[in-house]
Order: sequence, then structure tokens, then C-alpha cells
Amino acid sequence: MADRRENVVIFPFMAQGHIIPFLALALHIEKTTNYTITFVNTPLNINKLRSSLPPGTSSIRLLEIPFNSSDHGLPPNTENCDAVPYNLVLRLLEASASLRPVFKRLIEGMVDEQGGEQPLCIIGDIFFGWMASVAEELGVFHAVFSGAGGFGLACYYSIWLNLPHREIKDDDDRFLLPDFHEASEIEVSQLPLAMSEANGRDSWSVFHRKHLPEWTKSNGVLFNTVEGFDRTGLTYFERKLNKPVWPIGPILLPIENRKRTSKETEFCKEWLDSKPESSVLFVSFGSMNTISPSQMMELAKALESSNKNFIWVVRPPIGFDINSDFKSDEWLPRGFEERITKSKQGLLVHKWAPQLEILSHKSTSAFLSHCGWNSVLESLSHGVPLLGWPMAAEQFFNVKLLTETIGVCIEVARGKQCDIKYKEMATKIESTMSDCEKGKEMRRKACKVRDIINDAMTDDGSSVKAMAEFFDAARKTMRSGRKRHVS
Ligand SMILES: *[C@@H]1O[C@H](CO)[C@@H](O)[C@H](O)[C@H]1NC(C)=O
Ligand SMILES: *[C@@H]1O[C@H](CO)[C@@H](O)[C@H](O)[C@H]1NC(C)=O
Repeated sequence: MADRRENVVIFPFMAQGHIIPFLALALHIEKTTNYTITFVNTPLNINKLRSSLPPGTSSIRLLEIPFNSSDHGLPPNTENCDAVPYNLVLRLLEASASLRPVFKRLIEGMVDEQGGEQPLCIIGDIFFGWMASVAEELGVFHAVFSGAGGFGLACYYSIWLNLPHREIKDDDDRFLLPDFHEASEIEVSQLPLAMSEANGRDSWSVFHRKHLPEWTKSNGVLFNTVEGFDRTGLTYFERKLNKPVWPIGPILLPIENRKRTSKETEFCKEWLDSKPESSVLFVSFGSMNTISPSQMMELAKALESSNKNFIWVVRPPIGFDINSDFKSDEWLPRGFEERITKSKQGLLVHKWAPQLEILSHKSTSAFLSHCGWNSVLESLSHGVPLLGWPMAAEQFFNVKLLTETIGVCIEVARGKQCDIKYKEMATKIESTMSDCEKGKEMRRKACKVRDIINDAMTDDGSSVKAMAEFFDAARKTMRSGRKRHVS
């Protein structure tokens, strides 16, 4: 291993949707630079990370920050957002903010240990605005890293700070963002639940309105996105924070660091190999989501009546234990699984599928997705257009960008409570995958976006340059800081 030096400290919020993009970032920095990387998290999450970074395979140092969930009104041994019911998510966020003094001591201890040498930079989570203040106190360069895209996060940020939907008249269902007009009108139905109910005094508003403004103390924001198709949101943050943004994506978790089972991967691959080119719809809503029983019925009918091939990652519907066995007879139309298996039209995969392998397979034609940003990047990296069914957080705004601006997506449903009509959905599936003008246009655009992504990741591409500029800025700041310190 080359001689590694200046230390990059990385600390994501305790949720798989945050830890995974940060891990991808850490592995990317490890591969492309000579910096030392210290990945901070709470003990149970660090434990889990050890299995994705077996000893000897990586120089990334995993560092535990002391945390006991019982001290924060959380169930014992609860350190990950994925392990808490929705009503405790906010408590976990608040608990994470209380790590502020502990984190400061951790960095001070690290500096002592390294003979007084400060880290090169601290890269923190979008939910850890407080970390920018700690870094400022310590005199260390700090950036926020967003696993979300520029546009989606800009809408999210602006809405929490302004709550513009509180101002609209009762009979109106859309509004503009006062500091982000470029986003055009947002519909009330595009707001995630906590946001739509927010009034400025609720706990979510209080948390976000305390911590999001602290980003101004940061030195800038790293985005897992590509300048070429996500400029509008980046401009919003440059203007709002008066700080640089560095679009460095897509940074995806390498296949070898993903949880995978070779049996399922082989099975999906063989099934896809047996299908014609560009003929299969991939259906998956990410590791955090499932849909209601009635939505599941309608989706099954839509898939079957579309006459398109599909791979569908199924999980028990809302209201049932997510880890229980999947009951096809109960949750899907009568005879559905037998019919689609016999005709080879569809493949049901339980809980988990090798997403990257499926999206990169030439038989895959479109992706019906919740449009979490990571899934969007994985899909577009392979030129696969999307059918969007946003369910939470900034996913609604991702779909807005993908449909209205980039033109690589059709929205097929909105939210966890929406009514699905299978005929309508089948029509949308058809028009995305068939040879009609709309379908061809979307696929053409998706391939164009794939080319933009490939260009961004070449040696003089925009994302590679942005990463270099980020490290230049950190080195410059830290050197001048040290000089001042010495003189
Ligand atoms: C890392 O260090 C090695 C050995 O000192 C050097 O040859 C290489 O160019 C460095 N790589 C980067 C990306 O700085
Ligand atoms: C966490 O705190 C509880 C209550 O104070 C204690 O019983 C438990 O042993 C602590 N857990 C750890 C891992 O320190």
C-alpha cells in the first residue's frame, strides 16, 4: 500500500441510505487518492461495516463513536434508522445531534494521537449541520456530502426553511418556492408526509430549521450527482450558501462491496439471458419501502396485462411483518405466480435482487422505481429510463426533475397512499417500453444521459475535476490555517 497521509474524516447519519453512499465515497477516495480515511459511526454500525470491508481488503479505518441508544429514549441496541419504527426516526436524528460534543472530543483525541496534525477535512451528513460548526471551532475544512441529487435536495432544503405550502389558499394545490423559482410549481401531493404537515412548530421543522442553516458554516457541498443534468439545484446551493458545490458523481458502491448471494445473482442473470434485448421491466422500491396490499394487487395486474417481461422484487405489503415469508396466494391475484412462471413472463425475487447486475444487463429496458437518488444514478448510468413511483423524502422532486427537465421518466404513481388503476399503469409501462414515439424518445434521452455520465467520469470529466478541486480547496485552507498557527 502506498504511503498514505493526510486524514479524511467521514461521518454519515446512521441509516443504510446514508451509510452506503458514504461508504461508496470512502472507497472512491481510497482508490483515487493517497489520503488516509477514517470512517466514523456508532458501534453497531461500525460492526456491520466490518463485514463489507474485510481486513486486508481496505485501508479505511473504522472508528466507533460512543453511543448508547438507551440514553436517548430509543430501544436498546438501536443505532440505525432502518431498525426503528417511523415514529422514532426523529428521535434518532435528535440523538445524532447530541453527539456534537462527543464528536468534537473524538477529533481532538485524533489530533493528539497524530502529534498535533489536524485532519485534511471532515465530510459530514446533510442531517449533521452541527458538524460544520464543530469543524469551524476546530479550524478544520468541512464539507457536507449529499447522497441526494442537487435538484431534489434544493427543493427539500427550500421547503423546510420556507414552508411555502402553509401560505397557499385552500383551493390551491400548487406553489412556488420563494428562493428557488427555477424549480417551477410543486404540487402539494409531492410533499412527503412530515413536510406536508409541518407548521414550523412541529419537531421535524424545529430540527431541520435548526440544522439546515448551519450549512453556511461549511466550506461547501459535495454532491453525488453530475453537473451535466443537475445544474439547477447546484446553482441554488451556490447562491444560498455562497459556497462552492462539487458535483462528483455518480459514485456507486462497487459490486464486490455489496451484499449479494451468488445463487440469486446467477438465477436472475440466466433468466435475463433467455430474454430478447431491451424487453424486461425491473421493478424494485429500494430496501426501505413496500406498498399497500391493494397497490400490490393492482401492480401485479398491471404487470401481467402489460404483456411485458418483468423482474419484480417483492416484500410483504404494508401492515405485515417485512421479514415474514411472502404469501403469493394472499397478496397477489389468484394464480398470478403460476401463470407468469409458466409463461416465463415474469420472475418474482424475494426481498433482495442484484440491482446493478440487472440494470447493466442488455435485456433490461426500464426500471419501475421509487426513484431514490442512488437507484436513479444506477439506472441512468446504464441508459435505462425510469417509471417513477416516489414514496418518501426528496424522491418526489427527483421524479419532477427526471420527467419535466431530463425527460427520462414517466411518473406512474405518487406516494404510499395513492390509488393505483392497473389499466392506467399498464398503459404507461407499454408506452415506456414499446416502439411508440414517447418510448423511443425516453430511451434515446436515457442513452444521452449515460454518455454525459461516462464523460463526467473520464480523467478530465466534470466529476473528476470537481473531486480534485474539492481536495485542492481543503489543502489550501488547511495549509494557510497551519501557517497562521505557526506564525
Ligand atoms: C500515491 O503515492 C504514490 C507513491 O508515493 C505515487 O506514485 C502516486 O502518484 C500517488 N497517487 C496519487 C493519486 O496521488
Ligand atoms: C446502555 O445503557 C443502559 C442503561 O443505562 C445499560 O444498561 C447498558 O448496559 C448500556 N449498553 C452498553 C452497550 O453500554
